[in-house]
Amino acid sequence: MPKTAEPTAKIKLDSNLQKFISKPLKLLINGKWVAAASGKTFDDIDPSTGDVIAQIAEGDREDINQAVKAARAAFDNGPWSKITPSERGKLIWKLADLLEKNTEEFAQIESLDNGKPVGVARAADVPLAVDLFRYMAGWATKIEGNTIPISVPYTPGAKYLAYTVREPVGVVGQVIPWNFPLLMAAWKLGPALAAGCTVILKPAEQTPLSAVRLGELIMEAGFPPGVVNIVTGFGETAGGALAGHPDVDKIAFTGSTEVGKIILKAAAGNLKKVSLELGGKSPNIIYKDADVETAIQGATSAIFFNHGQCCCAGSRLYVEEPIFDEVVQGIAKNAEKIKLGPGLDPKTEMGPLVSHDQFTRVCGYLESGKKEGAKAIVGGEKFGTKGYFVKPTVLKDVKQDMKVVQEEIFGPVVAAMPFKKDDALISQANDTTYGLAAGIWTKDISKAHSLAAKLRAGTVWVNCYNIFDAALPFGGYKESGWGREMGHDVLELYTEVKAVCVRI
Ligand code: NAI
Ligand code: MG
Repeated sequence: MPKTAEPTAKIKLDSNLQKFISKPLKLLINGKWVAAASGKTFDDIDPSTGDVIAQIAEGDREDINQAVKAARAAFDNGPWSKITPSERGKLIWKLADLLEKNTEEFAQIESLDNGKPVGVARAADVPLAVDLFRYMAGWATKIEGNTIPISVPYTPGAKYLAYTVREPVGVVGQVIPWNFPLLMAAWKLGPALAAGCTVILKPAEQTPLSAVRLGELIMEAGFPPGVVNIVTGFGETAGGALAGHPDVDKIAFTGSTEVGKIILKAAAGNLKKVSLELGGKSPNIIYKDADVETAIQGATSAIFFNHGQCCCAGSRLYVEEPIFDEVVQGIAKNAEKIKLGPGLDPKTEMGPLVSHDQFTRVCGYLESGKKEGAKAIVGGEKFGTKGYFVKPTVLKDVKQDMKVVQEEIFGPVVAAMPFKKDDALISQANDTTYGLAAGIWTKDISKAHSLAAKLRAGTVWVNCYNIFDAALPFGGYKESGWGREMGHDVLELYTEVKAVCVRI
């Protein structure tokens, strides 16, 4: 059984953070902190207890309208259109410095709001966000076009100078999820600002704290009013108003595939550009010639990192038959040792799921797996009496057509299946509507590369998993989304190409 973390010894909250959550949090519109036009607020919940931790302004259509107006003005003829790329880069770098200086406070915010272990937020979420901003700060001065030799056969003898410029796409709406609240804000804001866009960011209602605090740092860094607007609120209302707004030029979304499709429809009104980073059901494949101990550790963290609330979680485990039992038992043993508890207890290795909804959803999948004949060799149920904890779970005796193998669970649940032949493996691994990530564990490099080529996924990790870098593009094939975030590829999402042709 996973050990209980009770009685818990939570760390004392940073004094800045205590002050920050002691009064209702506001919306950032046109450089000012304002209450929602309706005056409404909503509760932000601590997922380890179910208690209310803060009151958050409930932004809606009217607030989105005001934010879009501000972003439009800052983009069309305001300060952001006049600032040099170098100055843009400096501001983004300054934001990274401020964030880094406040690492401890942000780590605690993420832990409190999302439930993740504070040590993980300190080592991963915050430094990755800092690094992303720095990487994107560098791009601000390097977004270039081409000069293009053209021939134009129907104007014989004429000469032209033709070139392209990459211009910012304009006013951008960004809707982000709750699994990595700060990091997702960074993935979205970094490239948009580097490219010269203005932004309306809508954080997830489950985890609004870090985006609002980041807004304070954005103001402190000196971004002009209206460049970044932050509207907290719910999906269907604030998010929907943003996705459908006729003066927004582009919408960027990370979240469920279901909502991705709703966003796409809402965006059709003015044909705004759309990029989507959606769900996954990623295959993690272990061959018998792998370093088995390393693969067991890798497969354990591939599914249990962030409590399985990762779009790229290695949630379908395919193990070559001769080592199937050894690997599955190894992962189960690791799972048993994982210490569950509140994120703010430094001993905690796995916190609660983010919300009551997510807890209910994941428990529903555990029930459905059981009904369809899957066997939980470890876990398989909720943990404790308060908060939204689910035990790390390894399912075997699963079949390809079961819901637990086909649908994204977004919790600490892996479905393990043995395989014999490569052909069958490849079609099983690709037998999903998703195509976000995949893992391969083998010492045979030609096998690794030839399998990597056959997997329909935006990221393939070989002998590692969950390796992210600001320079490495990330995104999905199939219903895992449109476009790539991070790396230089992301700049395509935030720029338009203009071709200029001059007769000389
Ligand atoms: P969701 O897709 O509903 O929420 C993500 C964001 O979209 C939030 O900011 C939310 O307010 C917003 N949103 C919701 N409905 C909207 C609408 N009609 N128009 C505009 N914005 C809207 O995700 P949810 O319900 O929190 O989680 C459900 C499932 O989604 C999870 O179990 C998981 O499978 C998947 N998911 C995937 C994520 C990823 O990183 N790809 C992140 C979060 C959830
Ligand atoms: Mg919360």
